[in-house]
Amino acid sequence: MAFTQRHLLGIAPLSVEEIELLLDTADGYVEVNRRSDKKLALLRGLTQINLFFESSTRTRTSFELAGKRLGADVVNMSVATSSIKKGETLIDTAMTLNAMHPDVLVVRHPDSGAVALLARHVRCAVINGGDGSHEHPTQALLDALTIRRRKGRIAGLVVAICGDVLHSRVARSNILLLTRLGARVRLVGPPTLVPGGFRALGVEIFHDLRSGLRGADIVMMLRLQRERMQGSFVPSLREYFALYGLTRRVLEEAAPEALIMHPGPMNRGVEIDGVVADDIHRSAILDQVEMGVAVRMACLDLLTRPLRGEA
Ligand code: CP
Repeated sequence: MAFTQRHLLGIAPLSVEEIELLLDTADGYVEVNRRSDKKLALLRGLTQINLFFESSTRTRTSFELAGKRLGADVVNMSVATSSIKKGETLIDTAMTLNAMHPDVLVVRHPDSGAVALLARHVRCAVINGGDGSHEHPTQALLDALTIRRRKGRIAGLVVAICGDVLHSRVARSNILLLTRLGARVRLVGPPTLVPGGFRALGVEIFHDLRSGLRGADIVMMLRLQRERMQGSFVPSLREYFALYGLTRRVLEEAAPEALIMHPGPMNRGVEIDGVVADDIHRSAILDQVEMGVAVRMACLDLLTRPLRGEA
């Protein structure tokens, strides 16, 4: 099957077949990344620019590694020292970079919709590295790959996404992807952070952590996105941890082999107890990071196939 998307702006435009093609392709790259010689020549001659208007450790580094391992020339544009600081607009920046003939732009931006807007002004493929509270498609893909490899399937699993769902692009992309692949998704958190409107996406809502975790196969914790909050959504961090923090005790409600996930960065002692996060049998948090490189290699590979004369 051919991947016919020109950009990867979100999970929303993808069919089940396209998601599965991305996951199957990424599966192959996991083994490449575990070899001592990780370098391929697939993207030789192609240029990838990473343009991050928000801070990032995992996404930016793994996109850089992914591009380099596939043989692309990778440029990390530093927004802090760019002409954006002199008032250049997003569109002017996009058109300026476009004039340098990149083949792929990876963009993270604090505003929802900004990456799609930028994509309309360039000729190359654009990958959304996270836009506001809208979508973070490669995070959802790497989460799905982690679940599929650890549990052997996604369909039929009960996935509890817990915490600050309201401000989370990770939650939104995961809801779209996991429901599309047949998982039963629950959202768990206080009413201020998990409003009832999310039911329209085909999920169940719980405001009590123990009830939300009962029998769950996957427990995905989210950070409080305080940088996106205007006003107070929780009484205090201490009270939030007491009511919604994942501890060993509350985890007993979940299925016996339940997997613990977190997209990172984690705030230990706020949404998750460090002992749970570091549990080598239950925690898949570092697996998620590993799958991130493979998934980003798959995205770069599939989006550049037309440039390389492949279907
Ligand atoms: N999960 C995630 O997007 O992490 P970074 O902000 O470190 O890229």
